[in-house]
Amino acid sequence: MIDRRVRDGLLRNVHLATFVGEGYGAVRHAALAWREGRIAWLGPDAELPAEFRALPTHDGAGGWLTPGLIDCHTHLVYAGSRANEFESRLNGANYEDIARAGGGILSTVRATRAADEDTLLAASLPRVDALLSEGVTTLEIKSGYGLDLPSERKMLRVARRIGELRGVTVRTTFLGAHALPPEFAGESDAYIDHHCTAMLPALASEGLVDAVDAFCERIAFTPAQTTRVFDAAAKLGLPVKLHAEQLSDQGGATLVAKHRGLSADHLEWLSGEGIAAMKAAGTVAVLLPGAFYCLRETKLPPIAALRAAGVPIAVSTDANPGTSPLTSLLLAANMACTLFRLTPQEALAGITREAARALGMVDRGTLAVGKRADLALWRIGEPAELAYALGARPLAASWVGGAKR
Ligand code: NIG
Ligand code: FE
Repeated sequence: MIDRRVRDGLLRNVHLATFVGEGYGAVRHAALAWREGRIAWLGPDAELPAEFRALPTHDGAGGWLTPGLIDCHTHLVYAGSRANEFESRLNGANYEDIARAGGGILSTVRATRAADEDTLLAASLPRVDALLSEGVTTLEIKSGYGLDLPSERKMLRVARRIGELRGVTVRTTFLGAHALPPEFAGESDAYIDHHCTAMLPALASEGLVDAVDAFCERIAFTPAQTTRVFDAAAKLGLPVKLHAEQLSDQGGATLVAKHRGLSADHLEWLSGEGIAAMKAAGTVAVLLPGAFYCLRETKLPPIAALRAAGVPIAVSTDANPGTSPLTSLLLAANMACTLFRLTPQEALAGITREAARALGMVDRGTLAVGKRADLALWRIGEPAELAYALGARPLAASWVGGAKR
């Protein structure tokens, strides 16, 4: 548990990967001081001002300090398991066929609707704890396995409770447009009406929604339906993001960029037009290599073109029971390198600075004076080790808002 009373501190005998400026923004043989949960000073240890020397001091043991990790795309609140589908896929079924036959997302909807709030919380906490044990200090959690007002509310309440219980920042995203619930079978426009006029306004008024997402895909919702979702979000002043171009090119990236979306996520089928629209709008590309890996996709997101255009690139777990039962953000970073050919520096910026940007959170994601003291201290000899090793568990300690976890 976090002792939230002590929000001042000083780390010495440490190297910093600040993610400010070029490369890792490395400062070797450094110190970093924080007061009231905010970074107050950082630089070479030899230059540490006297005024910070009396703060509660921690020995970095010659390791590296990075911003606390940020997982900007998860569906980790759910009940049940989809190991049976994993097995079916290995026996020849494919993801879209399973979805069309009422499995996939809808099988998790059945389990999630049936679970009460405490059961759902208990099922979700181990997944949260796996992320936090690897240095995550901010995470996004989507709804979308309830698909009716009480069940979506239950999911979002659980997400809020996770933030309170674990003392980390949880950003909630309403993903009512994830799949068509069975009671609306054959009436997807009527479901989108209900989503926009009843569910979203109610949940937003309860303070449960930080952003709105949708799944724009041939097995989910059309661009026209997605537009209605975005317009409803705009009316409530809520930012949007989109599951776009995962299995086919629906023009989703262009659509979300036109709505000045925070991010477009997945993007295996992203077009040149989508890239240009994202660049113009400042929409972040969120790569989800766990889903690519689990579905054994072969179409790679257009990394070189994203890079050339200067679109910011984030990386996330997409933790979910169907396509990415992954609760290691470091493994996601490794996969972004191994499968998508990101450099370790890009992948690690993708789970810190760019992930913060994907959530619209300007107060974190780098080490700089004034930023939140969300910190992760690692037993490593160089930053690239974080993306290189699999299963290494290199976290030595983490701080959230200046308080040690
Ligand atoms: O991000 N693409 C849609 N949603 C999830 C998968 C959800 C599921 O299969 O349960 C994703 O991959
Ligand atoms: Fe997702």
